[in-house]
Amino acid sequence: MKIKTQYQCQSCGHTSAKWLGRCPGCEAWNSFVEERTSPGDGSPAVQEGSLAALREEFSAQPGDWTDLDAPEDPSRALRRLDTGIGELNRVLGGGLVPDSFTLLGGDPGIGKSTLLLQMARGIRLKNADLKILYVSGEESVDQIRSRAIRLGVQGSGHIFLAAETQIEKVFATVKELRPHVLVMDSLQTFTSSYLQSAPGSVTQVREISAKLMALAKSAGISVWLVGHVTKEGSIAGPKVVEHMVDTVLYFEGDSGSTYRLLRAVKNRFGSSRELGVFEMEGDGLQEVSNPSSLFLSDRREALPGTAIGTLLEGTRPLLVELQALVAPSPLSLPRRTSVGMDSNRIALLSAILERHMRVRLAEQDLFFNVAGGLKLSEPACDLAAIAAIWSSVEDHPFPLDWAWIGELGLTGEVRRVSQIDVRVEEARKLGFKTVVIPEGSAERVGKIQGIRVLTLDRVSHLGRLVREKN
Ligand code: TYD
Ligand code: MG
Repeated sequence: MKIKTQYQCQSCGHTSAKWLGRCPGCEAWNSFVEERTSPGDGSPAVQEGSLAALREEFSAQPGDWTDLDAPEDPSRALRRLDTGIGELNRVLGGGLVPDSFTLLGGDPGIGKSTLLLQMARGIRLKNADLKILYVSGEESVDQIRSRAIRLGVQGSGHIFLAAETQIEKVFATVKELRPHVLVMDSLQTFTSSYLQSAPGSVTQVREISAKLMALAKSAGISVWLVGHVTKEGSIAGPKVVEHMVDTVLYFEGDSGSTYRLLRAVKNRFGSSRELGVFEMEGDGLQEVSNPSSLFLSDRREALPGTAIGTLLEGTRPLLVELQALVAPSPLSLPRRTSVGMDSNRIALLSAILERHMRVRLAEQDLFFNVAGGLKLSEPACDLAAIAAIWSSVEDHPFPLDWAWIGELGLTGEVRRVSQIDVRVEEARKLGFKTVVIPEGSAERVGKIQGIRVLTLDRVSHLGRLVREKN
C-alpha cells in the first residue's frame, strides 16, 4: 500500500505538499505537522470525474427519502432527556436529544469534566432506566471515581467509568454495555489504531469524530465529546470538528473568577445563542438562576462612569454594568482600552460623543469595561455605553436604579432594538425604577407597569434628560 505524506495545519486542517511556517488558511504560525495518509482513510478510491466514478455513481442503490407532507411517525419525533441541570437543558434547547452528538469545548481546567460528571448524575436522577458510560483518556478510573465521590455523583446507579484511549476498544465496551449516553473525555487523547498519526492530530481528531457521529446515529446513543481549546498548534482544537457535530457548546470563564458561562455556538436542535451560567464551588458547579444580579457589580452608591445596559443571550435578557473612565492622557496618542466590547464600536461611540454631544476626547485616555467578564455582541448596549462615558467625562453619576436601552446611529439618533419589552421587564423585575429607551419604542413598552419609562430620540439630548429627570 502506498503511503502518502502531506503536511496539515493543526488548527484549521489546511493541507499542503510541503511544510509551511505560516498557514495560508488561518494564518497560524508553526501549525503544520506531517501526516501520513493511506488510501482507505478518507481519500476517495477513484478520482473524481473519471468514467469509473460516474458509472459507480449511477449504479448505486437509491437512498431513502420522505414526503414532507406525510404524517410524522410519532416514535421518530424529537424526544428530549432532562439532564437534571436546568441551565444545561436551556443551552441544549430544552434537553438532550437522544441520538445527538455534542462537542463541549473549553480551556483546560475550566470545568468540562466536572460538568459532565454532574450531568451524569442529573440524567440518572431524572431518568431511572438510562445507562451512562464515562470514558476518560486523561485520568485513571480511581481519579475519576474520587472526583465523582466528591461531587456526590456516586450512588446514582448505572454510571460506568472506563479509562481508555483506543477508540476501537471503547466501541467494544459500548457494544457490551449498551449505554444511552456516552461521554468521551477528551477528543485529543483518543486514537484509532488504523491511523499512524499521533493522538490529537487533525487526521486522528477527524477520524474519532466521524466514528462517534456514526455511533450516535446508528446506535441512538447520545454522545458527548470534550475538546480542549489550545492556543498553540501542536494539537488540533475543537474547531476542526465543529462542522461535523450536531451541537457545539463552549464553557468559558476567567481563571480568576468562579463564574462559568456555557454557550451554544451551534445547535441543530435549538437556538445557538443560549447562555447558561454556573458558579464553580468546592463541591462542583452550581447553577446561577438569576445571572443579572451577578453582572451588576456590588453597587451601593451612585458613582460617575457607570451605566446599566441590557443584552439578550438567546431568549434570556441580562442586565449588565458598563464602566468607563476618561482621564487626561500624558501620551501624544491617547489610549483607548476596552474589555468586553469591540474596540471599533468604542471608537465609533467616541466619534458620536465628539460630534453630537460636543465632548472633547482628543487628549483623553478612555478605558472601558463590562463588569462580570461578559462580552457584548449586540448594539443594544450602545446607549448605556455612551451614557457611561458621558457620565465619566461630566463627573455626573446616574441614580442606581436607572437602566439604558438603545442602539446608536452615526447621525446621533437613538435607534430601536429587538425585544425591548423583554428587556424592560427584566429591569423592572430586578428593581430598576427608570429606564431610558428609544423614542420609537415607547408604544411597545406602554403596558409595562411599575417602572418609569423615559424616551430619547437623539443622543445629543442625553445631558438635558439626565439633568431634568434625575
Ligand atoms: P475540570 O472539570 O477537571 O476541568 P476540565 O475538564 O475542563 O479540564 O475542573 C478542574 C478545575 O475545577 C480544577 O481547577 C478544580 C476545580 N474544581 C472545583 O473548584 N470544585 C470542584 O468540585 C471540582 C470537581 C473542581
Ligand atoms: Mg477534564
